[in-house]
Amino acid sequence: MTAKRLITITDVEVVREKGGAALEVPSGAIVTPLARDAARRLGVALAPAGKRERPALVFGNWKANGTLAQARRLAREVALGWCGSGAPLGPRRAALALFPPLVHVAAVSEALAGTSIALGAQDLSEKGGGAFTGGVTAEMLADIGCRYALVGHSERRREFGDADDVVAAKLRRALAAGLEPVLCVGETLEERDAARTHAVLRGQTLAAFDGLSAEQAARVVVAYEPVWAIGTGLTPSLSDAEDAMASIKDHLARKFGDEVAGGARVLYGGSVAAENAARFLALASCDGALVGGASLKAREFLTIAGAPA
Ligand code: PGA
Repeated sequence: MTAKRLITITDVEVVREKGGAALEVPSGAIVTPLARDAARRLGVALAPAGKRERPALVFGNWKANGTLAQARRLAREVALGWCGSGAPLGPRRAALALFPPLVHVAAVSEALAGTSIALGAQDLSEKGGGAFTGGVTAEMLADIGCRYALVGHSERRREFGDADDVVAAKLRRALAAGLEPVLCVGETLEERDAARTHAVLRGQTLAAFDGLSAEQAARVVVAYEPVWAIGTGLTPSLSDAEDAMASIKDHLARKFGDEVAGGARVLYGGSVAAENAARFLALASCDGALVGGASLKAREFLTIAGAPA
């Protein structure tokens, strides 16, 4: 049996001395807590080896927009542009998913049939099935072909009062139904100005992951979405975004171990557009993008998905 490699503070310091920005962590390697702290302090990203080979997840959140006809057309345009007019071209560097309004999910599912593009829901009920008028359960979403479900999007937290306990309940419902939840976390402008970004990310992440097994945690995608960057055209600096996404992986490493953290999928979201996507996707800790406004235009969404990861 080969011994697992240990990443120590010295490894981090060597990268830093050479002016490097990222340290590749081989799968199964153990990063000591001191090395993690040093990496944070010195601005060295701990990047799982093989990250470059994994496809970037490019997710389009359509929010509450469009008619049924528009949803069908947009899905067809994306499918045609991505897969070509014939058979799907097979895996590319990105894996796409569309998140239409709930009432359009079934139609978009039909439009995407036979393509490699996955389907997601923007929300789900924290309750199970039964006497919950208006509720759409995780099982219903899985049944009509959804693979993913957003939970904890800041618009749900702000406009619909989804607090951390509701977000955690939705996440568990999604997991139990076999969906892959996409947990959205991020700080408001006030929290950022008060230097509370890391505390907020830690609080939201740990509240949602509390009590999960490592196997469940590994099925959760996390999207770092600074609230002030959503729909505003503003974006964080690349180093702030990297720092935030690395800190999320750090929390997962401390709670579930390096294997879960190494395989974790953390996306950046907030004013992602054709002209900035490649820079975010290239960050060491970034595994994809959650795209809002720009996903309503097929060409722009496809450009984002084709950006080098
Ligand atoms: P935006 O939205 O790309 O329009 O900023 C992102 C999101 O809310 O997921």
